[in-house]
Amino acid sequence: MKLFTTIFYSIIFLSSLFSYYFFKKEKRRYKDRPKLPPGSMGWPCIGETLQMYTQDPNVFFASKQKRYGDIFKTHILGYPCVMLASPEAARFVLVTQPQLFKPTYPKSKENLIGPSALFFHTGNYHACMRKIVQSSFSPEVTRKLIPDIETLALSSLESWANGQVINTFHEMKKFAFEVGVLSIFGQLSKKYTDKLKENYSILEKGYNCFPTKLPGTAYHNSLTARRRLNQILGEIMKEVKEKKLLANNLLGHLLNFRDENGNTLSEEQIADNIIGVLFAAQDTTASILTWILKYLHDDPKLLDAVKVSLHMPVTLVYKGVLKSFSSTADGRESRRHFVSLDMEENRSLTWQMTRKMPLTYRVILESLRKASIISFTFREAAVDVEYEGYLIPKGWKVMPLFRNIHHNPEFFAEPENFDPFRFENPPKPNTYMPFGNGRHACPGNELAKLEMLVLLHHMLTKYRWELVGPSDLIQYSPFPVPDHGLRARFKKEF
Ligand code: HEM
Repeated sequence: MKLFTTIFYSIIFLSSLFSYYFFKKEKRRYKDRPKLPPGSMGWPCIGETLQMYTQDPNVFFASKQKRYGDIFKTHILGYPCVMLASPEAARFVLVTQPQLFKPTYPKSKENLIGPSALFFHTGNYHACMRKIVQSSFSPEVTRKLIPDIETLALSSLESWANGQVINTFHEMKKFAFEVGVLSIFGQLSKKYTDKLKENYSILEKGYNCFPTKLPGTAYHNSLTARRRLNQILGEIMKEVKEKKLLANNLLGHLLNFRDENGNTLSEEQIADNIIGVLFAAQDTTASILTWILKYLHDDPKLLDAVKVSLHMPVTLVYKGVLKSFSSTADGRESRRHFVSLDMEENRSLTWQMTRKMPLTYRVILESLRKASIISFTFREAAVDVEYEGYLIPKGWKVMPLFRNIHHNPEFFAEPENFDPFRFENPPKPNTYMPFGNGRHACPGNELAKLEMLVLLHHMLTKYRWELVGPSDLIQYSPFPVPDHGLRARFKKEF
C-alpha cells in the first residue's frame, strides 16, 4: 500500500514538474514569437467581410492601409488574412520566397474549372504545365495568329456598328473568348466552337454563385455544363489525334507532352488546363478593353492623339507632337494628312506594325494600372512565416495588394489621373504587376496585349462610339467594369 502511495505521488510530482516546464517553454516560445501585424479581425466568423462589401473593396483596403500601414491583418471571406501593400512584401511572397506560400482558391471554383488546372498547383506538375502554357503563348507562336485575330476583331466591330446599343463588356467577352479558342485549338470547326461557347457560358455563371449542388441552381447547372465540356473536349482530342492534326498550339502541346518516364497527360488533365486558360483569358481581357473605351471616351484630346498616332510614322509619335496636334483642335485635319503616310485603310496588320504603336500600347499599360482589375491575389502561408518582424501564421491567407501599389503616389504620381505618358519611363521595379509576378505570373500577357492592340487599331482608325447612359458607377462581375458593362453605340467612320 505504501509503495503504491509513493508511486502515485511520484507520478503526480513528475507530471506537475513536466507540465510546469512545458508551459514555461510554450510561454517563452509564444513570447519569443513575433507579433501579428496590426489591424482588426471584425466579428466572430464573418470578420470584416460585410464592411469590405458595403464600402467597396478598393476603398476598404485603401483606408486600412492608411490606418495601419503596408502590412495589416483582417478577417474576410471566412479566413484570417495578412494584407501586403508594399512592392517589397509582394515580391517576398511571389518571387523570393514563393515556397513558403501556396496558391489557394475556393474548392467550389476548383471543381468547376478542374483540379488539374495549373494555377491550383505548385512543384513539378505546375512547372511542367507552365512550360507548356508559356511556350504555347510565346510571342513566336502568337505573332502567327495576327491575321486570324484581325479577322475576329473586324467581324466583332462590324457587328457592333449596326446602330444598336451594345453592352461593351459582353461584346468584349465574346471577342476574348474567340481569341482564346483560336489560340488553344487553332482553326476549330464552327460545330465545336458553338458547343464550347454554349456550355462555357453556362459554366461561368457558377464561378461566383453560392455552391449548392441542388438541381436547378446555377452551381448545379454549371457542374453539368462542365461535364458536357469534358465530352466535347474529348471529341476534339480524338479527332485531332485521328487526323494527326497536332499543331503548334496549346492543345497540340498538351497532347504531345511526355514526362521523363514517357507518361502522357490524361484527357481530364488536358481538359482542366484548357478550361483554366479560358477562365484566365476571357473576363480579364474583356474588362480591360471595356475600361480602355471608357478612359479614352472621357479624354477626347487623348483619344484624338491616339487616333492620330495610329496614322503617323512612328518616329513622330512623342508627347510634344501629339499635344500640339490635339491642342490645334483639328484632329480631323491631322488625320487626313497622315492617313496616307502609313497603314492604308485595309492593309493587314503585321507583327512589326503592332510593335510600332507606342501610344496605344501605353494606353493599355495605363488602363491596366488604373483599373487594376485583379486588385490582389491570394496565397496561403504553408508554414509560420516571419516578415518584417511580424508573424504570418501557417494557414492564414496572404494577399499582395496590387491595386494599392498601383495607386500609391510614391510610385505613380497623381495615381487617379489617367496618364499613359507616365509609361514613357519604366515604373520602379516591382511596382507594376497587372500580370502578377514570379512563378504564377500571367503566361498569357503577350497574347492579351496583342489582341488588345489589334482590336484597338481597327476600332480607333475606322469607328467612333458614344456612351449611352451614366458610366461612372462600377459593377463587379467579379472584375470591376463600368455599370451595365458600359453601354455604347458604335458607328463606322470612314
Ligand atoms: C488583361 C488580361 C489579363 C490579366 C490582367 C491577367 C492577369 C493575371 C494575373 C495577375 C495572374 C497571376 C495570378 C496569381 O499570381 O495568383 C495571371 C495568371 C494566369 N493567367 Fe492571366 N491575365 C490576363 C490574360 C490572360 C490570357 C489572355 C491568358 C491565356 C491565354 C492568361 C492565362 C493565365 C494563366 C494560365 C495564369 C496562371 C499561371 C500560373 O498559375 O502559373 N491570362 N493572370
